[in-house]
Amino acid sequence: MCGIIGIVGNHPVGQRLLHSLEKLEYRGYDSAGIGTIYKGHIQRLRAEGKLTNLKEKFLAHPLQGHNGIGHTRWATHGQPTEINSHPHANPKVALVHNGIIENFEELRKDLESKGYVFESETDTEVVAHLIALYMDKGLPPQEAVAKTLKHLKGAFALAILFTGYDNLLIAARQGGSPLAIGYGKDEKYIGSDAIALVSLTQEVSYLEDGDWAVLSPESVAIFDKEGHSVERPIEKSQVLESAITKGNYDHFMLKEIFEQPLTLESTINAYLKEGKLELPTLPWASISRLTISACGTAYYAGLVAKYWFEKIAKLPVEIDIASEFRYRTPPLPENGLSLLISQSGETIDTVAVLEYMKSQGQRILSIVNVRGSSIARQSDVVLLTHAGPEIGVASTKAFTAQLVLLSLLVLEAAQKRGLLNETTFEEMAFGLRFLPALCEKVLSQEEQIRTCAKTLSNASDVLFLGRGTNFPLALEGALKMKELSYIHAEAYAAGEMKHGPIALLDKNVPVVIVAPFDDLFEKTASNLQEVIARGAPVIVLTDNKGAQHLRSLKVDLLILPQTTSLTAPITYAVALQLLAYHTALFKGTDVDQPRNLAKSVTVE
Ligand code: F6R
Repeated sequence: MCGIIGIVGNHPVGQRLLHSLEKLEYRGYDSAGIGTIYKGHIQRLRAEGKLTNLKEKFLAHPLQGHNGIGHTRWATHGQPTEINSHPHANPKVALVHNGIIENFEELRKDLESKGYVFESETDTEVVAHLIALYMDKGLPPQEAVAKTLKHLKGAFALAILFTGYDNLLIAARQGGSPLAIGYGKDEKYIGSDAIALVSLTQEVSYLEDGDWAVLSPESVAIFDKEGHSVERPIEKSQVLESAITKGNYDHFMLKEIFEQPLTLESTINAYLKEGKLELPTLPWASISRLTISACGTAYYAGLVAKYWFEKIAKLPVEIDIASEFRYRTPPLPENGLSLLISQSGETIDTVAVLEYMKSQGQRILSIVNVRGSSIARQSDVVLLTHAGPEIGVASTKAFTAQLVLLSLLVLEAAQKRGLLNETTFEEMAFGLRFLPALCEKVLSQEEQIRTCAKTLSNASDVLFLGRGTNFPLALEGALKMKELSYIHAEAYAAGEMKHGPIALLDKNVPVVIVAPFDDLFEKTASNLQEVIARGAPVIVLTDNKGAQHLRSLKVDLLILPQTTSLTAPITYAVALQLLAYHTALFKGTDVDQPRNLAKSVTVE
């Protein structure tokens, strides 16, 4: 959620903190702040709203110092006001925080009873005052932090500066809030991910759960929960600066939509080589069921895969959203296989499901986009989507990369379960090779999609419908629409419409129907007639064959290329992304940073 950066070195840090915060803004953009130590004194600058407000303040009052921290906030406790912005400080320390301190209320009461005065509504401030309490008792910073950490419950990441210490920065991580350490020649860094560090260094290591680190310009010492000194491997960051800039596009989201022909190709090439699948050995033939869990868009990728696994590999799938799954604690098959899907690899509910699955003796397979993320590190088998960094808050290229990787897994499972002969396998795998071209075709239809978006931008409510794999696609289309344009959008399985949602329909509620000419097309076409009969305007996403059946109807047709059961969801996803993107542009909303959202959801 929130973004953290820290630099301790021998050169001014103010501008560089702001530069790194720009890269982290996708993690939260309610407010931002930086703090430095200059000649032993804490300095800080904070501003409500987007980073640009903080930058303006910095121009008027630049902060000096060679040691500093920065934060971009996604509010949990307390409104996004300046007073609640990070860093939080007192005469002893200044700190920034990502995550939640679950027991902050009892800690706050205790500290207040000891005379510590709180200025904000945040959970963060208790950490600052608790460290100060130990320092007031005479403990040096390192020991004060070690003592404080023992009192804190929850999942969090911290970066802390200390009055009187120009060369000391302490960082700590507990639970699902990642922290990367960066290594420069005479400087050291911390960041909430490798993206924060991209313009500073390529050498990174990652703190593990319970770790805390003491950084000076020359050294990094890492300790585990028990205070034992530990080593964490230093690796070369895979993130390139060019991958996290907008290039010639107006928005990251548009750039990422247009990258899909390439990201799909890279993901296919990583696992399908010379017509043969190269995937880790998994017990596809022996398992009786596959369990899938994920959140948001990644969950919809899993839902598409459920249809594929059941139809093509005859493998039953149980799937649930992670925030429900984790508390449902369902019984799982003995020695079963569980699959988690996540772009960031950090989503707290998905991490919690992983932990539950592990405790139930499941083998964990994960599909993630971020190498070294929490889910990647805790899984038995990791499959990386080769989508590159996704900065736009709404997931696009990661979703289609998840889908194509899932389609390869389905083919592998079907083969191992003796359900695909060589010829059918080759045909299906060959079909996937057309995906980049199919996406190119959809991208070339941007202007037509824009015309449909214009119609939708005048609506207050939109209904999305689909059957089979087109149902999760409808869900994804509605999610993209609501999160980007703030138009109320709902999705239903087309056959379910009669059981309630049809009551919503009138001439003011447009309906978007996802209907390639597949084996359920006729059924969806009947539902389409029911919609038309209620006077609702209709946009149908279909192909040439589907269009032939619908030409006589009073509907807007968006004719997409001909697809197969595996390529349709990916191809249609691109059209739905562009539809939501352009609707949002017509509405004038902030496409890359929609209100109230953040990219990586590391709090419950
Ligand atoms: C929607 C979106 C979210 C994420 C969800 C899971 O456009 O991006 O719904 O899909 O927060 O995130 P990851 O995939 O990082 O676990």
